[in-house]
Amino acid sequence: MKLIRVALLFLCCYLSFCKRSLTSDTPQEDLIDKKCLTEKYTHLSCNKVFCQPWQKCIDGTCVCKLPYQCPKNGTSVCSTNGRSYPTYCQQKSFECLRPEAKFLNNGKCTPEGQFSVSVNYRNTNSEGIVEVKLVDQDEKMFICKNSWSITQANVACRDLGFQQGAFDAQTNFNLPNHLHINDTECLHVHCRGLETSLAECTFTKRTTGYQGLAGVICYTQSVEDFVRKDNIFQCVNGKRISQEEACDGLNNCGDQSDELCCKECRGNSFLCKSGVCIPKEYKCNGEVDCITGEDEIGCQERRHPELQGFELMPRAAGRLGLQGLETVARGPEPEIEEDTKLLTADMDAERKRIKSLLPKLSCGVTNSEHIRRKRVVGGKAAEAGDFPWQVAIRDGEKINCGGIYIGGCWILTAAHCVRVSKAHRYQIWTAFLDWLKPNSELTVFWVNKVIIHENYNGATYENDIALIEMKKYSNQRECELHHSIPACVPWSPYLFQPNDKCVVSGWGREKDNQKVYSLKWGEVKLIGNCSKFYQDRYYEKKMQCAGTDDGSIDACKGDSGGPLVCMDINNVAYVWGVVSWGENCGKPDFPGVYTKVANYFDWISQHVGRSLISQHNV
Ligand code: ARG
Repeated sequence: MKLIRVALLFLCCYLSFCKRSLTSDTPQEDLIDKKCLTEKYTHLSCNKVFCQPWQKCIDGTCVCKLPYQCPKNGTSVCSTNGRSYPTYCQQKSFECLRPEAKFLNNGKCTPEGQFSVSVNYRNTNSEGIVEVKLVDQDEKMFICKNSWSITQANVACRDLGFQQGAFDAQTNFNLPNHLHINDTECLHVHCRGLETSLAECTFTKRTTGYQGLAGVICYTQSVEDFVRKDNIFQCVNGKRISQEEACDGLNNCGDQSDELCCKECRGNSFLCKSGVCIPKEYKCNGEVDCITGEDEIGCQERRHPELQGFELMPRAAGRLGLQGLETVARGPEPEIEEDTKLLTADMDAERKRIKSLLPKLSCGVTNSEHIRRKRVVGGKAAEAGDFPWQVAIRDGEKINCGGIYIGGCWILTAAHCVRVSKAHRYQIWTAFLDWLKPNSELTVFWVNKVIIHENYNGATYENDIALIEMKKYSNQRECELHHSIPACVPWSPYLFQPNDKCVVSGWGREKDNQKVYSLKWGEVKLIGNCSKFYQDRYYEKKMQCAGTDDGSIDACKGDSGGPLVCMDINNVAYVWGVVSWGENCGKPDFPGVYTKVANYFDWISQHVGRSLISQHNV
């Protein structure tokens, strides 16, 4: 009897084990953030990824820049419309506006210059071995299989007119009859994956033996039937891929939609804090790919990321002018020890170079080390220079609100702090610390204009955000704030996440309603799911909760309009929130509620001008 029971137990265990191992065949579901998928993010979603240098980010979408908005220097580029453009950026910006004009070659246009891609297999134009004719080569050539992947195949298919890219990049096709394997030369090609034509990828000729030729099946309606029905991932561009291909760092969809909503990444691809998987080769490659920057952190054992970028660029730029038979000895990787002939220019390097020429913004960097050194628990007194963006809004004799300097003459604050009609009464006190002993750095500005968010609702505190423009002194051309530094304005809601630690500061009251005379600050963490505390009073997109588990650190009456600042991985300060409201002060389960500034980036930039607050080309 006992024995049978033991046996049964084993059987049960065995069965449940079996069941578990069966279901563990599909853990891919867990890697994907379902809620995020409903946002339909693609390579053009600048909340998730950086835009190309010939684009800018408006309302969360990368849109075309006008050619004149490109950096000026570079070498000329020829387009398929027969026109030469002064720079690659200008050609791409023109193409972005009129997609029929694609990249043809680096350098001036020539009368004979032509590029073509073709496939030949039976009588379709959508599958077969890939052949290309490069601009300054006379004959069509094949592409080597070992340089070929879904990344290049997607580009080739788009070039052939299949907007959804490739279905498969690994297929073996029979060699056309008149060819013999041994006398077949092939080209290597490298793409980043978002090129609009294969001509934009870099072609090299290497003296390696024959390894097979690249073939492709482009994604068409008829091919869709071959996609497994049970295990599909639906790309935003309509293409269906298998779920195992999502969150693997590779842009299988072609519009990157399979890599933008990930909780984890497959293989050894790299997970950005913003939930994006990038190829492992992008880690420490000298170019920031994660919007949060961590892919270029901790790279010292290679080279300093910034140096790396700049060192590579002149070399690449040198190569760019040379159309062809230049021999370039590449790095020490053993696989590429043989000589490599670059047949087309490296436009990816040129893209990086253009990126480095875009205007840079200076914000969020303090010269004060001490705020980072001190690990704090609550309401500590600030020292001079700790919060160079913090200002006080003085209304008559009182200071009821704080504000945040964001550059130029502009102060960000809460809508409930100010009235348009009272503008003449306000004073902005910058670089100010203590009521009782005013410091010498203190600079006072009068107010020119108050702009309250047009949808501010005083009953619900929705859109509790306002801008104050300070008055220039008549002898000055700009607002001169010698002891203030602007905080950066966040452009994406994915820059910081729940549990990130941030700092709130202000002259507001203590818990016991005691008056405060000097600037105080405290460390709080961002809180997700805040509806569980405030139910329908909390608006996820427009508000951000922050606090501590025991509630001991919080903003309070008088802190309103002041900053909740978060530091990114490079210690750059972003104004993530504006102190708005809260149930009492410092009570557990009633965290402070802040206006979520990232949601208002476009509103702010419309009023203060893009160039004042936009960095990374956003
Ligand atoms: N509305 C308040 C003010 O005018 C700020 C309240 C913030 N409260 C909080 N518990 N975090 O100063």
